Amino acid sequence: MWLLFLSAAAGLSAALDLPQGYAPVPVSCPTSLDWIRPADGLNPAEAEWVQGRKKNVLAALEGYLDRLGLTDFDVEEYLSRINDNDRANVPILGMAISGGGFGSAFTGTGALRAIDDRLDAATEQRTGGILQSMTYLSGLSGGSWPAVSFPAHNFPTADEILDYWKPDIDRIYTVENDTANTATVTTLFEQIATKYIEGFDIGVADYLGRLFAYEFIPGNSGGLNTTFSDIRKLSKFVNHEMPMPIIHLSMIGEGDPEYDDLWVPRANSSIFDVTPFEFGSWDGSVRAFTPMEWLGNRLSNGQPVNDSVCYQGFDRDSLIIGTSADAFNFWYLESISNDTLGQFAKRSSSPPSTLSKRLTAPSDIDNLAIAFNSSFGLNLTEISYSVFPNPFANLSLSSGIAHDSETLNMVDGSETGQTIPFWGQIQPARSVDFILAWDDSQDASPYDWNNGTNLYNTYVAANNTGIPFPIIPPVNTLMNLNYTTHPVFFGCDANLTTTGDDRAPLVLYMANAPYSAYTNFSFWQSATTREQMGEIYVNSFDIVTQANGTWDEEWAECIGCAVVERSLARVGMNRTSQCERCFGRYCWNGQLDETQPGEMNPNLILDPSVGFDEWNATNPF
Ligand SMILES: *[C@@H]1O[C@H](CO)[C@@H](O)[C@H](O)[C@H]1NC(C)=O
Ligand SMILES: *[C@@H]1O[C@H](CO)[C@@H](O)[C@H](O)[C@H]1NC(C)=O
Ligand SMILES: *[C@@H]1O[C@H](CO)[C@@H](O)[C@H](O)[C@H]1NC(C)=O
Ligand SMILES: *[C@@H]1O[C@H](CO)[C@@H](O)[C@H](O)[C@H]1NC(C)=O
Ligand SMILES: *[C@@H]1O[C@H](CO)[C@@H](O)[C@H](O)[C@H]1NC(C)=O
Ligand SMILES: *[C@@H]1O[C@H](CO)[C@@H](O)[C@H](O)[C@H]1NC(C)=O
Ligand SMILES: *[C@@H]1O[C@H](CO)[C@@H](O)[C@H](O)[C@H]1NC(C)=O
Ligand SMILES: *[C@@H]1O[C@H](CO)[C@@H](O)[C@H](O)[C@H]1NC(C)=O
Ligand SMILES: *[C@@H]1O[C@H](CO)[C@@H](O)[C@H](O)[C@H]1NC(C)=O
Ligand SMILES: *[C@@H]1O[C@H](CO)[C@@H](O)[C@H](O)[C@H]1NC(C)=O
Ligand SMILES: *[C@@H]1O[C@H](CO)[C@@H](O)[C@H](O)[C@H]1NC(C)=O
Ligand SMILES: *[C@@H]1O[C@H](CO)[C@@H](O)[C@H](O)[C@H]1NC(C)=O
Repeated sequence: MWLLFLSAAAGLSAALDLPQGYAPVPVSCPTSLDWIRPADGLNPAEAEWVQGRKKNVLAALEGYLDRLGLTDFDVEEYLSRINDNDRANVPILGMAISGGGFGSAFTGTGALRAIDDRLDAATEQRTGGILQSMTYLSGLSGGSWPAVSFPAHNFPTADEILDYWKPDIDRIYTVENDTANTATVTTLFEQIATKYIEGFDIGVADYLGRLFAYEFIPGNSGGLNTTFSDIRKLSKFVNHEMPMPIIHLSMIGEGDPEYDDLWVPRANSSIFDVTPFEFGSWDGSVRAFTPMEWLGNRLSNGQPVNDSVCYQGFDRDSLIIGTSADAFNFWYLESISNDTLGQFAKRSSSPPSTLSKRLTAPSDIDNLAIAFNSSFGLNLTEISYSVFPNPFANLSLSSGIAHDSETLNMVDGSETGQTIPFWGQIQPARSVDFILAWDDSQDASPYDWNNGTNLYNTYVAANNTGIPFPIIPPVNTLMNLNYTTHPVFFGCDANLTTTGDDRAPLVLYMANAPYSAYTNFSFWQSATTREQMGEIYVNSFDIVTQANGTWDEEWAECIGCAVVERSLARVGMNRTSQCERCFGRYCWNGQLDETQPGEMNPNLILDPSVGFDEWNATNPF
C-alpha cells in the first residue's frame, strides 16, 4: 500500500491528458427545469413508475401465492380485489440490506437470491417470487453495493452477477497493473483527478467508489462514467421488471459534534435518499429533492448560482457507492483513539482475531491521507467527506448548514446509527406494506454477529419523528428471544406500532447468523473465492428458508401471510386461521426479557455440536 499510494503523487499531471470520464460534463443550463420539489408526497415520476410496477407485482404475486397454497386463502379472490380500483391496493413490498462492508454485501445478496423465482431451489422452497413482487430495494454502505449493482446490471440473478463481480479478485491490496477488472492506485487517482481539475471537490469517497466500482459497476474502465440516473434507461427498469433502488447517505457539518477536527453526525441528522429520480431528504434540515441527473449543481433558492454552465454526470454510480460507504471520519477516529471514538452502531469496538484483513489502522489510513496531500494538496479534513455542491441553499425547505452552505458534506449512510436502510421505505408517501430487513451490521461484539441495535435505533428515530413503524424491543430482549439468530415479524398487531394503527409496514427481520457456515468473515476481506461465496449463499438460503422448512413446514407460508397482511385488511378480507397461527409463532407480542444476554458466539445453528474452532479446523475460510 505504501509504495502504491506514494507513486500516485504523479497522478495529477497525467490526468491533464486524460479524456473526461469521471468528471461531470459541462452543458448548457436547462431553462424550464423544476430544480427543486418539496418533500410532500411521491415524486410524480416515481409514482408513475410504481403504478407501472404494480402490473408486474400482480403477476408475480399470482405465481408466488399459487405455489404457496395458503390454507383457506382464496388467491383468485384476493388478486381480483387488489386489481380493482386501478390496483390501488396492490401491496408495496421492499427489501433493505444493511451496511457491513463485504459481509452485508454478500450475505444480503444471498438473501436476495433466496427470494428470486428465477432460482429453482427458491421456487421449490416457495420463497422464490417475493423479489419479483417487490417495489423497492434499499441499501447503504456495503449494502449499497448490491442495491446499486443489481439495477445497474439490469438485474441479473445473484448467480449470474458473480461473473460480473469476480469477487475472487483482490482489488484493494495486491493490484500491480491495470486490467479490465482492476486499476492501480495511480490510475484511480488519475481518474478522480479529472473531476478535481473540472473544479469539483474530491476525497476518499471518490477513491473508494472508483475502487469498488471495478467490482460492482458495469461499463468501461470500471464503470467510469456510469450514472445512477441512467438506471432509468435500462430495459428492466423501463419495463418495471426490477425493484427501484433507494440508497441512503448521511450529512454532517458545522454544529455537529467534532473530534480531532472531524465531524460526526447526530442520531437525528437528516438521512438522504438517492433514487434513480432524485436526491434529497424527507425531514429534518432538508425537506426537498432535486433531480438526480442534475445533482452536482450549486443552487440558490432553487436556481443555478452560475446559469452560464451547468453540469451533468456528477451522479456516477461509483460516487454513490463510495459515498454511502465512506466512513473515513469514523475509521480515522477509531484509529487514533484506540477504538474509543468514532464508533457507530454498525461496528464492533474490539476487533477479534478473525479480522485478520481488517484495514489496519493507522498506516493505510495515513497513507491515503499522505497520497491525497501530495497529489492534490488536500488535508485530512478536506478528504474525509464526500462534498456535493448544495442544491438546497437558501430554500424555505432547508435549515441550518443545508440552508447556509455552498456545499453538503455527505458520509456513510450508517453514521446516524441506522445501518438498516429503512428510512426511505417507511416514509408515508411510499406506503410500503412489508419490508424484509436483512441485517449484517456486525454490531454484536466481539464476533461480528448482530444484536439488533440498528433495528431498534430506527424504531426510536421513527417514534421521535411520528413515522409509523413497528415497536421494537431493546437489544437485550432481541438477543434473549433469539431474534438475531431466527427470523421474526414486527408490527403484526397494529397496537404494537409507533402510531398504534396499521399504517406501519410489517417488518420481517432476518440477521446473518451461522447456520451452515461461519459467515462473519472479516469486514475488510478484500477477495472472496467462489467456493466461499457458495457457502455464503447457502448460509443465507438456510436463514431465509429456515433450513428449507426443516423445523417448521409452514415457515414459507408464514412469510406469505406477512406479505399479504396489510393489503388484506384494505380489500376487506380476513386473516386466515393459518396466518393467525403463524403470527402466534413468529410475531413479537410485546414480551420483554431485559436480562443481560450472553456473548453472541453461536455454534452452527444447523449442527449445534460444531463450534467455530471445529469448523475452522476443516474449513478453509
Ligand atoms: C505488471 O507490469 C509489469 C511491467 O509491465 C510486469 O513486469 C509485471 O509482470 C506485471 N504484473 C502482473 C501481475 O501482471
Ligand atoms: C437534533 O438533536 C440536537 C441535540 O442532540 C438538537 O439540538 C437538535 O435540535 C435536533 N435536531 C432536530 C432536527 O430535531
Ligand atoms: C459515457 O461514455 C459514453 C461512450 O464514450 C458516452 O456515449 C456517454 O455519453 C458517456 N456518459 C457520460 C455520463 O459521460
Ligand atoms: C487499547 O485498548 C485495549 C483494550 O481496551 C488495551 O488493552 C490497550 O492497551 C489500548 N492500547 C493503547 C495504545 O491505549
Ligand atoms: C482458523 O484456522 C486457521 C488454520 O486453518 C488458523 O490460522 C486461524 O488462526 C484460525 N482462526 C481463528 C480465528 O482461530
Ligand atoms: C484543512 O484545510 C482547510 C482549508 O481548506 C482549513 O480550514 C483547515 O484548517 C485545514 N485543516 C487542518 C487540520 O489543517
Ligand atoms: C449491541 O451492539 C452495540 C453496537 O456495537 C453495542 O454498543 C452494544 O453494547 C451491544 N449490546 C449488546 C447487549 O451486546
Ligand atoms: C416513543 O414515543 C412515546 C410518545 O412520544 C414515548 O412515550 C416513548 O417513550 C417513546 N419510546 C422510545 C423508546 O423512545
Ligand atoms: C434461544 O436459543 C437457545 C439456544 O438454542 C435456547 O436454549 C433458548 O431456549 C432459546 N430461547 C428462546 C426464548 O427461544
Ligand atoms: C394488542 O391487540 C391484541 C389483539 O389484537 C391483544 O391481544 C393485545 O393484548 C394488545 N396488546 C397491547 C399491548 O395492547
Ligand atoms: C436447503 O436447500 C439448499 C438448496 O437446495 C441446499 O443448498 C441446502 O443445503 C439445504 N439446507 C438444508 C439445511 O438442508
Ligand atoms: C371477516 O370476519 C368477520 C368477523 O369474524 C366476518 O363477519 C366477515 O364476514 C369476514 N369477512 C370475510 C370477507 O370473510
